[in-house]
Amino acid sequence: ARDATYDALAPQGLEEVAAGVDACRRCPLYKDATQGVPGEGPAHARLMLVGEQPGDQEDLAGLPFVGPAGQVLDKALAEAGVPRAETYITNAVKHFKHELRGKRRIHQTPNPSEVTACRWWVDAERRLIRPRVVVALGATAALSVFGKATPIGKNRGVALQLPDQAQGVVTYHPSYLLRVPDAEAKAKAYALFVQDLKFAWKLAG
Ligand code: URA
Repeated sequence: ARDATYDALAPQGLEEVAAGVDACRRCPLYKDATQGVPGEGPAHARLMLVGEQPGDQEDLAGLPFVGPAGQVLDKALAEAGVPRAETYITNAVKHFKHELRGKRRIHQTPNPSEVTACRWWVDAERRLIRPRVVVALGATAALSVFGKATPIGKNRGVALQLPDQAQGVVTYHPSYLLRVPDAEAKAKAYALFVQDLKFAWKLAG
């Protein structure tokens, strides 16, 4: 069913999403961020990747996944045979949530109300792009994409149906892969991450 309120206010294209994200006041996170970071990629990508929120470097660049997590993602996408330029990459939350420690800006996980507020933009991106497959990277993205807590360990690696015909896949967040302390566990999680990306790309084909 179409939503009349949504239709009246909905962005008509990705340029309007980008402008709207930067001007967004739906939650307080805009106050301490440099800019809103919209998604990046082709207007009709078959595969959409959803991260958590921009990090320090993304906040400065205005682009998703260009910092350390982006490097892990790039490596894994290449190993999975997924061309990043053919995917649309975005975040569940569009402004960088952080606290200051001295001069350093330390990442803070967005809370559920911030995720819910920003679903307006993720939904707008989904409606415009109509990807066949949406991959949630980590728990915050999974909450946004599925609208409810969707534990990664239990749900990763399979196709989950989404209400708008798209299929959903959940997998690890690339930053998590950087943090796993045990080397063996880390290599194992990374291999599953590559496998999940490969699976999602095939599903989108
Ligand atoms: N982590 C994310 O979830 N998204 C980014 O854009 C960068 C780091």
